[in-house]
Amino acid sequence: MSSAPAPLSTWARNISPSPTLAVDAKAKALAAAGEDVCGFAAGEPDFDTPDHIKEACIAALKSGKTKYAPTPGIEPLRQAIADKYLADYGYKAAPSQVIVSPGGKFSCYLAILATCSPGDEVIIPAPYWVSYPDMVELAGGTPVPVVAGIETQFKLTPEQLEAAITPKTKWFIFNSPSNPTGAGYTRAELKALCDVLMRHPQVWIMSDDMYEHLVFDDFKFCTPAEIEPGLYDRTLTCNGVSKSYAMTGWRIGYAAGPVALIKAMGTIQSQSTSNPCSVSQYAALEALTGPQDFLAANRTLFQRRRDLVVGMLYQAKGINCPTPEGAFYVYPDISALIGKTTPSGVTITNDEVFASALLEDTGVAVVFGAAFGLSPNFRVSYATSDALLQEACTRIQRFCASLV
Ligand SMILES: Cc1ncc(COP(=O)(O)O)c(C=O)c1O
Repeated sequence: MSSAPAPLSTWARNISPSPTLAVDAKAKALAAAGEDVCGFAAGEPDFDTPDHIKEACIAALKSGKTKYAPTPGIEPLRQAIADKYLADYGYKAAPSQVIVSPGGKFSCYLAILATCSPGDEVIIPAPYWVSYPDMVELAGGTPVPVVAGIETQFKLTPEQLEAAITPKTKWFIFNSPSNPTGAGYTRAELKALCDVLMRHPQVWIMSDDMYEHLVFDDFKFCTPAEIEPGLYDRTLTCNGVSKSYAMTGWRIGYAAGPVALIKAMGTIQSQSTSNPCSVSQYAALEALTGPQDFLAANRTLFQRRRDLVVGMLYQAKGINCPTPEGAFYVYPDISALIGKTTPSGVTITNDEVFASALLEDTGVAVVFGAAFGLSPNFRVSYATSDALLQEACTRIQRFCASLV
């Protein structure tokens, strides 16, 4: 029996599915079918949400916090977020300047939806988190990727930002430490970008601080709201509990900014998801206000894994892997491998072919660089066990050595 094709909108036809989720799903399907797969695609910690956070959720469930909740988030959580911003960055935001949403992804999307009209441009340093350009397109805006390559450690220079700004620029999206490169901007580097933005009052700044707590060595996280108070009236500071607190499935993100923007985001949220999950918000409240000592332990763990992966990929023939400041990703360059051929006769013409041959021949799943707007590279998410990392990097070394 044949069925009629679904009457898809232009939005649905023009949007691409998340490539990172697609690669992860493929790796999981292969593993379920009995293949020996090392999955490096998923962008989430490999350990469980801490118990005290789960307990807060259980207590909320038991006390009947199971009804619709206020659209912009429960009051104590909005207050806790405002308190955190003040304590951590000296950034003063009233609870009315804070909105809680179902995941950090939705916080960013709400802001774009609330502000972008057809013709508006959004500057996105590339390589970028896969969702930014599609969000902008969904809102009818125009993504303007600006490549920040390996030569500047994947960081945008003030000159590049200045050159990309036009009268139509609505937003500059800033993400440090970055997905997919792990690159983190120093205070001086961020100040130089802020100085450019100070000269262009029509440009808003979205700072996606999702990897705030995952920084290594003596690197110090910083965010525009902390560095340049002169940008206060046009900065949206986004964050969430997903990565730092191992809470990807709970779906809680948040943002703080000028009241009018937060209100508009709330209106869209009220007509789309109503409110973020009530009991997840009580868990997030505990995450932000409860014990924080495991954050330092996580940093140590991830730094060790970063060093392991960078060290082993450094020894893989044809791979150039810079050492990132944070997050749990590395973004190696494979220019030297383009044009080579695998033992099974596949010519590596680009990073998508590389990633697919790597999965096929060795069972190692990585995400190809074109998905993030900079090739030829691939992204490794090292949020997995040392043993698996060691095994996967050994397979990558063997695969690279086998290319002719
Ligand atoms: C830079 C960045 N922002 C936001 C998100 C989304 O986080 P959440 O799972 O809370 O929607 C991610 C997830 O991969 C990310 O890498």
